[in-house]
Amino acid sequence: LVAHFTPKRLAGQRVLITAGPTFEAIDPVRGITNRSSGKMGFAIAQAAQRAGAEVTLVAGPVHLPTPAGVRRIDVQSALQMRDAVLAALPGQTLFIATAAVADWRPAVCAEHKIKKDGSGTTPTLAFSENPDILATVAARPDAPYCVGFAAESEKLLEHAQAKRARKGVPLIVANLGPATFGQDDNALLLVDAEGARELPRASKTALAAQLIEEIARRLNARQA
Ligand code: CTP
Ligand code: CA
Repeated sequence: LVAHFTPKRLAGQRVLITAGPTFEAIDPVRGITNRSSGKMGFAIAQAAQRAGAEVTLVAGPVHLPTPAGVRRIDVQSALQMRDAVLAALPGQTLFIATAAVADWRPAVCAEHKIKKDGSGTTPTLAFSENPDILATVAARPDAPYCVGFAAESEKLLEHAQAKRARKGVPLIVANLGPATFGQDDNALLLVDAEGARELPRASKTALAAQLIEEIARRLNARQA
């Protein structure tokens, strides 16, 4: 009933969202990834769609149903996520990067399964740095309004402010790491040019709706 009377704060907006982890292959049967359930990103996609936006969700490997009315593009690696994001970018008015992108990928992916040779010798992996998808989008002349996430284990405000400057984005949404991974609730700190504002601990669904409200206010102010 409440939703019915809520004005569509993102009507006419086109929103691109990344979510989940990425998976970086070592060989055809192995890879490295990170701990991200994708729950926050999927909840944000749902909230944006309910707020009237046309939503495209680029998702790494997660075990979550597609939110109703959302266009979903599944990817595995950071390079695939970057390519999918750039392909979907034209016409987007808002980009929300919630994905936990692997910072590094194995420099080479072995063509065949790496086998034990029986001598107890262990393989050594060399890594390449993955592209920063958010910074890449934010640096483009046609960049939409960009929102980044920051999962930290300490010094939340300090790291969020530094990340905001480094990535060149107007808004960073920070949260304290491992404690929230895979959980159904979270607490967020919004860091923008004005300062910091906390969204206290709540379910990821409730926080997503509040966050979309906060983002819509900033986006509408910028477009006014
Ligand atoms: N991000 C991205 N592409 C990457 C790495 C991060 O788009 N290769 C985005 C994330 O989706 C998030 C923001 O950048 O919105 C911050 O990610 P985070 O991992 O916290 O920042 P990093 O710059 O990778 O710094 P570090 O992991 O060293 O803290
Ligand atoms: Ca990182």
